[in-house]
Amino acid sequence: MWTPSRRHLCLAFLIVCLLSAISFLHLHLDLLHNALDLSVLCPYRDLASPVAIVCMPSSPWAPNDSSPSPEHLQPLSGTWTIYPDGRFGNQMGQYATLLALAQLNGRQPFILPAMHATLAPVFRITLPVLAAEVESRTRWHHLQVHDWMSEEYSRLNEPFLKLSGFPCSWTFFHHMREQIRREFTLHDHLREEAQWVLSQFRLGPNGRHPRTFVGVHVRRGDYLEVMPDRWRGVVGDQTYLQQAMDWFRARHKDPIFVVTSNGMEWCQKNIDTSQGDVVFAGNGLERTPGRDFALLLQCNHTIMTIGTFGFWAAYLVGGDTIYLANFTLPDSDFLKIFKPEAAFLPEWVGINADLTPLRTRSYRWERLYGMI
Ligand SMILES: *[C@@H]1O[C@H](CO)[C@@H](O)[C@H](O)[C@H]1NC(C)=O
Ligand SMILES: *[C@@H]1O[C@H](CO)[C@@H](O)[C@H](O)[C@H]1NC(C)=O
Ligand SMILES: *[C@@H]1O[C@H](CO)[C@@H](O)[C@H](O)[C@H]1NC(C)=O
Repeated sequence: MWTPSRRHLCLAFLIVCLLSAISFLHLHLDLLHNALDLSVLCPYRDLASPVAIVCMPSSPWAPNDSSPSPEHLQPLSGTWTIYPDGRFGNQMGQYATLLALAQLNGRQPFILPAMHATLAPVFRITLPVLAAEVESRTRWHHLQVHDWMSEEYSRLNEPFLKLSGFPCSWTFFHHMREQIRREFTLHDHLREEAQWVLSQFRLGPNGRHPRTFVGVHVRRGDYLEVMPDRWRGVVGDQTYLQQAMDWFRARHKDPIFVVTSNGMEWCQKNIDTSQGDVVFAGNGLERTPGRDFALLLQCNHTIMTIGTFGFWAAYLVGGDTIYLANFTLPDSDFLKIFKPEAAFLPEWVGINADLTPLRTRSYRWERLYGMI
């Protein structure tokens, strides 16, 4: 019978020691790694809901042109993309969120051809486009993201991830605002054309001082029905726009308001032009989302109504911003998918919407169905 010699016993003991040391190290590194991941997020104050913002004052992706690009610091692995859905502003939100979450998790982001077709004609975006064949042959893990940053999004381990949803919250990407600004740099011809349009209004009435440009985005179209019917909410009305414009008139000498809208006829009828400081976009030129967006981006400040198009103009311009606040009834389902504090920057100024028409509307509806 074989009995272990002293030498064998010693060897076995050594092996056990070595294995324990290795597993201890692993555990420790894992803990360290988790701790690092968590330190990346700061809890966002004053919120009952789990909204987090990414805060990395010295992150490898912080804007610093004199340091090497992130690719050289850390090779990105895997393939991440996002399903392009909705229109221009929605896709900008999807692009920025993909970029931010992929960088946070060390993965390589790609956009799908449809997103490229929407955004590349307007912006000098840099993310690579995923070939259709690669998309169809990849075994994707799917994740629908909600519209605010949360902790779980900083620990996504899937190498092949296709995101979806309508994220458009600064809580995903505010720590890399300069990089986002660079991605959404206008092509020269659009910027120059917008500058040319604005140049006609550059000087005040007596031709002396330069004027302050305020971009106004009035979202109408399908939202006129979607807001009251689906979300028990309103769009920006005449009174709101008047209040917002008066806010700028009180603070700037000779401001000029540049109005873009997908309901221009309504704007021309309802926006007060008696002070001679309102111009409507699109005189003579065919209006496209790119041209409208370029005009808003060349302005100094922004008045938004609702929608992601206005958000992006305000976020990229970076001037004073007035937004429509509390535009749904407090029990609206909209507030389950949209958190105002994750959508509007704290320094932006909200003006409360007038919800009276909504109340009368539901009153009419209830009466119609014999509930009153
Ligand atoms: C950028 O990086 C350089 C070199 O590492 C450093 O000296 C500089 O302070 C950094 N600038 C900012 C704004 O972080
Ligand atoms: C305001 O916008 C105009 C048009 O883009 C620009 O020429 C001007 O320099 C801006 N003013 C300020 C103070 O940034
Ligand atoms: C929106 O409503 C909330 C709750 O009533 C209120 O605290 C907040 O100040 C309102 N927002 C604005 C901009 O008035």
